[in-house]
Amino acid sequence: MQDKTYNSAINLLLQHRSIRKYQDKTVPDEIIENIVQSGQQAAFAYQAYSVLLSREKEKHPFHAPLYFVICIDFHKIGKIMETKNWKVIMNDLSCMLLGMQDAAYMAQNMVIAAESLGLGTCYIGSVPYYADKIAERLKLPQKVFPLVGLTVGYPAENPPTRPRYPLEFVLFENEYPELDKNAVNRAKKEMDDGYLSQNYYRNLNAKLGLIGDREETFDYDSYSWTEHISRKLGQWEPSTKRLLEQLEKRGFSFKDTENE
Ligand SMILES: Cc1cc2nc3c(=O)[nH]c(=O)nc-3n(C[C@H](O)[C@H](O)[C@H](O)COP(=O)(O)O)c2cc1C
Repeated sequence: MQDKTYNSAINLLLQHRSIRKYQDKTVPDEIIENIVQSGQQAAFAYQAYSVLLSREKEKHPFHAPLYFVICIDFHKIGKIMETKNWKVIMNDLSCMLLGMQDAAYMAQNMVIAAESLGLGTCYIGSVPYYADKIAERLKLPQKVFPLVGLTVGYPAENPPTRPRYPLEFVLFENEYPELDKNAVNRAKKEMDDGYLSQNYYRNLNAKLGLIGDREETFDYDSYSWTEHISRKLGQWEPSTKRLLEQLEKRGFSFKDTENE
């Protein structure tokens, strides 16, 4: 699989990089509509999403001209079903999983459309943890859960594309292989060398602290992706409590009600 077939769509996808600095330039309405309609054209299971737009740039991450909050939405379909004398009885775990897929594919289509028009984007992943505050601000009804934020605007930076795992660490034919030390080390090296060569964490001043008695042995000459991700996955959110509370406040419960 050495040869790659390039075309303009694939070139666009291979040039993706998140943008965290934006020009102070208005994005026209037609472009916004175009982006969201491209999002809507993604494959869907239930169209279980809504997109909330804000143009109050001083309130946005990176002061981006546009900030979208992409929500999982089972309120709307409930309204439609009500008119037909139906109601949703599918369990909230299934709804959430399907809604996550619908909303994520739509969001990514929006990213691709935006980039194809010369705009830059960056997802904001902390949104679910502040769902209650966001819901209050955006007046979200029950059964609408903010999944992810998306900043959009004309780029004021031109960063290189960021590294990815080698294809051999992602694409497994027929069966999942034993991941031997060499394969793991190759993946680790690709990611860490790639991010270090861009001074990525130094430029973002994004080194995470250590909790507990682990000794700090990293500086910005050595701190890279695998350390960053380890400090997140190895330290953050061991309990489901915080997220479950947010989901429950939005009307999603994961207790089994089958026998109640
Ligand atoms: C679900 C999700 C949440 C993210 N959250 C944030 C975020 O809160 N802040 C941020 O600066 N970047 C965020 N990103 C962007 C990632 O950091 C970025 O996509 C990743 O480092 C790869 O870089 P690239 O997009 O430039 O290729 C998020 C990306 C995803 C998919």
